[in-house]
Amino acid sequence: MKVLGIMGSPRIKGNTDLLLDEALKGAQSRQAEVEKIVVDKLKIAPCREYYGCLKDGNCVIRDDMDAIYPKLLAADAIIVASPIFFYTVSAQTMVFISRCQTFWARKYVLKNLDIPTRKGAFISVGATKGEKLFDGPKLTITYFFKAINAEYAEELLIRGVDQRGEIKEHPTALNDAFELGKRLVTSGSGRGNS
Ligand SMILES: Cc1cc2nc3c(=O)[nH]c(=O)nc-3n(C[C@H](O)[C@H](O)[C@H](O)COP(=O)(O)O)c2cc1C
Repeated sequence: MKVLGIMGSPRIKGNTDLLLDEALKGAQSRQAEVEKIVVDKLKIAPCREYYGCLKDGNCVIRDDMDAIYPKLLAADAIIVASPIFFYTVSAQTMVFISRCQTFWARKYVLKNLDIPTRKGAFISVGATKGEKLFDGPKLTITYFFKAINAEYAEELLIRGVDQRGEIKEHPTALNDAFELGKRLVTSGSGRGNS
């Protein structure tokens, strides 16, 4: 089983990064093959609405997304991890998501997104503690997952964590992330876990 982690924070070894690492370790502990993509390290342009994808399902922009599309297609589970920036996901995460309009075009327009439904998990962390902190990004990630044929199966949403690495002081978060990663593998997926 392949688990793909999308790391959407610009802060390496920051809170999102540490949580995602734990989740991937959890998946690995159940023999999953894991890969982490650090969006900020890649050259990925935002969607420019050229709409090449509406013709044949492929994006006409040539950049580091070229290598990520096949990984997204092959993954049995996908974890999106992002800090909260202005009550939504980071710009890095959103740029990556916007380029997945190709999947939306294949699924809803061309009707040829021929892959089984996979598991999707959302990991996020924000500094404040408001009740609505994750409302916006949860909607975004839900519809992102729908577009790539994934179900919103798991979430780990941590409030009140701000400084780089402060997540290590949280009483449960890192362990919760590890367990989330394990569950993604054990709870089954559209393929590879039968
Ligand atoms: C540009 C920017 C916008 C932010 N906006 C919010 C916000 O709207 N709500 C919030 O609770 N925290 C906000 N934060 C705080 C981060 O979510 C918080 O520091 C988080 O722990 C960063 O995670 P990281 O270490 O993975 O990057 C913001 C931080 C930055 C840099």
